Amino acid sequence: MILKTLSVLLLCFHLSLSDVYMHNPRGSNNRLEERSANRNNANRLFDSQNNNRGGYNVGNNKASGGINTEEDIYYMKYFQSGPSASSSLTIEWTNQHGCGGNEDSDPHKLNCNIVIQYMVSDVCEFDSEDENCMRNGDNTNTQTFNAVGSGQINGFTQSQMTQRMKNQVSTTRGLHETYEYYNDCYIRKRNTGLFTADQNLRNNQYGNSSAIYTRQNANGNRRGYECPEERDYYPYWHPTPWRDIAILADNMSQCDWYQRESFNVQPRGICRELDENNAVKSWSYWNNEDDCERYGGHWFTEYAYIDIEEVNKAQCQDRNHTNGLKRVWAPTTYGGTPQCLVLPPAPVCQPAKWSRVNHLGNSRDGVPLNFTWTLPYFPSGNEKFVVVRLRYNISTDDYDPFNTNSSHNQNLAQQVRSPVTQNPYINIGATNNKPLRLAINTAQFGRTFQDRSHVLRLLPRSEISHPAGSTCTLHNLNVRGKRGNIVQTFPAVEYDFIPNKLTVRESDCIHIQWTGSNTHNNGAPGGDGQTGDAGEGTGGTDRHNMVEIPHPNSNYPVPWENSTMWRGVELVWKDDTWTNSSALDETDIAVVLASGGYYECYTQGKCTKSMQSYTPRLNRLLNNIVPSFGTVLRLKRGTYHYICSRNNNFTNRSQKGMITVTP
Ligand SMILES: *[C@@H]1O[C@H](CO)[C@@H](O)[C@H](O)[C@H]1NC(C)=O
Ligand SMILES: *[C@@H]1O[C@H](CO)[C@@H](O)[C@H](O)[C@H]1NC(C)=O
Ligand SMILES: *[C@@H]1O[C@H](CO)[C@@H](O)[C@H](O)[C@H]1NC(C)=O
Ligand SMILES: *[C@@H]1O[C@H](CO)[C@@H](O)[C@H](O)[C@H]1NC(C)=O
Ligand SMILES: *[C@@H]1O[C@H](CO)[C@@H](O)[C@H](O)[C@H]1NC(C)=O
Ligand SMILES: *[C@@H]1O[C@H](CO)[C@@H](O)[C@H](O)[C@H]1NC(C)=O
Ligand SMILES: *[C@@H]1O[C@H](CO)[C@@H](O)[C@H](O)[C@H]1NC(C)=O
Ligand SMILES: *[C@@H]1O[C@H](CO)[C@@H](O)[C@H](O)[C@H]1NC(C)=O
Ligand SMILES: *[C@@H]1O[C@H](CO)[C@@H](O)[C@H](O)[C@H]1NC(C)=O
Ligand SMILES: *[C@@H]1O[C@H](CO)[C@@H](O)[C@H](O)[C@H]1NC(C)=O
Repeated sequence: MILKTLSVLLLCFHLSLSDVYMHNPRGSNNRLEERSANRNNANRLFDSQNNNRGGYNVGNNKASGGINTEEDIYYMKYFQSGPSASSSLTIEWTNQHGCGGNEDSDPHKLNCNIVIQYMVSDVCEFDSEDENCMRNGDNTNTQTFNAVGSGQINGFTQSQMTQRMKNQVSTTRGLHETYEYYNDCYIRKRNTGLFTADQNLRNNQYGNSSAIYTRQNANGNRRGYECPEERDYYPYWHPTPWRDIAILADNMSQCDWYQRESFNVQPRGICRELDENNAVKSWSYWNNEDDCERYGGHWFTEYAYIDIEEVNKAQCQDRNHTNGLKRVWAPTTYGGTPQCLVLPPAPVCQPAKWSRVNHLGNSRDGVPLNFTWTLPYFPSGNEKFVVVRLRYNISTDDYDPFNTNSSHNQNLAQQVRSPVTQNPYINIGATNNKPLRLAINTAQFGRTFQDRSHVLRLLPRSEISHPAGSTCTLHNLNVRGKRGNIVQTFPAVEYDFIPNKLTVRESDCIHIQWTGSNTHNNGAPGGDGQTGDAGEGTGGTDRHNMVEIPHPNSNYPVPWENSTMWRGVELVWKDDTWTNSSALDETDIAVVLASGGYYECYTQGKCTKSMQSYTPRLNRLLNNIVPSFGTVLRLKRGTYHYICSRNNNFTNRSQKGMITVTP
């Protein structure tokens, strides 16, 4: 009995080691605002398969205190691209097991591809009772899912399912994928053509092996409302809420295929059946067109739309392909009214950049692994919520990843041996003894990791009243990292500006923005790393500002008289959280940036919180400022260097950046 329990425990023990961490936009790794180095709940929103210590807290918009309600969260804001003006955001990450480098001269030790995606919806109110509203949540519990009983599911109606969703979904817990999306995955027959090696996939409570069971998730564990079959495979064969940004391929020759098969450009089918009231059910067991129709369902083709234009069919046709975006006149759900759906372009496909194995480090030449995302343009002009997702997928040549399927699954009765088996013993000599054991976990042999951002807001360019707003090329300049020293933050990273070297033109806009937490204490439990939050100012708090330094080799700010960075600076947009004053001049802007947004102008009387008169005064270590700030500026030509006065701490830590503005 004891032995049996022990072996079950050993089987269930899932050793997860550091794997993929997104540093900009800040990857959550399922954290919300934990004070501990470990996240509370690895199953909160998605299956990262990462170390518990990774991830960044959600942004806070108050000078003190944690997140009590969603109103306390600072949503990072990014301006959408305009019809003819791009906005770019640097996505940066580290991945542990290496990637890229498949050129013949320097072959790598594994196959690897990275898929960068986003989920998008129109915004909903923070206090929304809408159970489908994408949200960060204000606590770290996983959403509930209790499947309909097996005695009830056959006659279950869509209105009963909607009620069930309302009863189970909490509007204070984080939500990415929706309840009904997971329920459909829970019920839908899994793709039985997939290679599952010698894993024993279980059944759901209806006795069916559904899409929640995969080789990597044989027990059907749930994380948020993510569908495991979709999580493990790309491109997925059914509709998903994810839109593709880029595929960083193992082999460039796969790019044509990825770009052709991306859901962005290749609509996907799903089976839809009617209930006894003729309402369309949001779930079905059937996973292919033949079975679906044979059993009375309708095979519905769904498009990966990112936006809906409120126009009629003729106008929709007229607009087709304007600004490079295809439209289709189609319903979003089976039986729905057709609308003008705007589709995203095919994803970018590039070879994955080289990174070193067993090392959460940079690419060649010390350059961080990064991808520049040109943010989407949404013709409706609506503000959007998005979540960015980075998937890191690794396999080896121990079996051919693209031509090994269910016909190779272990089946000893039929004398089929899986090409890979669990911890096999191997023969190394002529005799028949097998002295060595290999460490092979067939659930992780070929494995996908991921990280996701917190929910971000994408603002339309029309939010910028300055005439440059609709036309300027916009560059996002953020801060990555969290409070602590190198071992305390690991596998997250210390502070830095990102990109810390930015080159723009004089006509370009720079969206300077950072966020932080008041609870990055990084305390116990710390799992397999050191706890603590070494740094300046109040424990647990992230704070940032920008002050000019004369050259990169310096740590002393230049006095205002000698500064050049803010000379002639133009204010293009300011967050509505600061100052009612118009006509801020270069002195005001310098003061605002140096005080991290605490003072809103320099001269008394020009704004409520002037540097000349406002009390309480700015704390010298920025303790009393809000950790989040944003503004869009245009700088005059020149080369500028700057630091964060609080965190830059030579010889311990550098938080310095450089901006070059060319004509
Ligand atoms: C499995 O792959 C083999 C080629 O390796 C192919 O002949 C066979 O049709 C495939 N079977 C399924 C179920 O996809
Ligand atoms: C990962 O690679 C395997 C091949 O080894 C492929 O079948 C799967 O679809 C890939 N998954 C993702 C998320 O890229
Ligand atoms: C890339 O893929 C093509 C087609 O699948 C294959 O012929 C080629 O050998 C691959 N190259 C490398 C370096 O793996
Ligand atoms: C379970 O599978 C059978 C076919 O094997 C199917 O008829 C039935 O609808 C499935 N049950 C559910 C609840 O999906
Ligand atoms: C737009 O053009 C594509 C072909 O590129 C076509 O499939 C689609 O139906 C067109 N959309 C509309 C709304 O006419
Ligand atoms: C991103 O990577 C490219 C090389 O692929 C490099 O030139 C660039 O400087 C990197 N950007 C950042 C912000 O690190
Ligand atoms: C600089 O960094 C060290 C190490 O993290 C820290 O102990 C110290 O408080 C920091 N600040 C100053 C002013 O030394
Ligand atoms: C400021 O500029 C003046 C004139 O160029 C120079 O003499 C002085 O040393 C500079 N001060 C600092 C602190 O850089
Ligand atoms: C701006 O001014 C309005 C009215 O004078 C006031 O209600 C509002 O609080 C002010 N906003 C800020 C950020 O000071
Ligand atoms: C850097 O940190 C060390 C402790 O790790 C501390 O002794 C030293 O004073 C710090 N340097 C500065 C400039 O604060």
